[in-house]
Amino acid sequence: MKMNKTLTAGAALCLLATSAFAYDGNWKVGRIYYRSVCTSCHAALPIGTINPSTKTKAEWAAYLTADKHAKGKETVSQYVSKAYRASIKAGNKAAEKFANNPDSELAADIKAFLIKGAKDGDSPATCS
Ligand code: HEC
Repeated sequence: MKMNKTLTAGAALCLLATSAFAYDGNWKVGRIYYRSVCTSCHAALPIGTINPSTKTKAEWAAYLTADKHAKGKETVSQYVSKAYRASIKAGNKAAEKFANNPDSELAADIKAFLIKGAKDGDSPATCS
């Protein structure tokens, strides 16, 4: 009887963990996308690569929440959107691979990577 209860609770937890509102950012997906899409653009421009370790976790969280990219001229989220991925997927493998990921999940993946790689994160990261 006791064991049954534990099993039921376990099954309930699994259901919770897989439901959409409990999506946990996957930093590995975020890393691929950041390096292949965000960095490949930055590297070709005067700004150059932007390492996750140039900001603290709090700074990244604030940056992503503000959603102001390129000194506020545009949003960060447009570069995460399905529409943007569709527009570059012919020449970008990561955009093609993640073409159908929901915008909110991909945004959470990128956030997880940036937070993990932040100056004060679990493993400060460079772009390469
Ligand atoms: C089409 C090219 C392009 C793509 C794609 C792109 N960026 Fe940028 N990004 C820029 C440019 C240009 C600047 C610099 C603007 C300036 O300094 O005037 C910039 C600046 C930044 C900065 C420095 C702060 C700021 O906003 O000025 C951060 C952080 C940043 N980008 C994050 C991202 C992230 C995260 C992604 C991917 C989701 C991304 N960028 C995708 C072109 C791009």
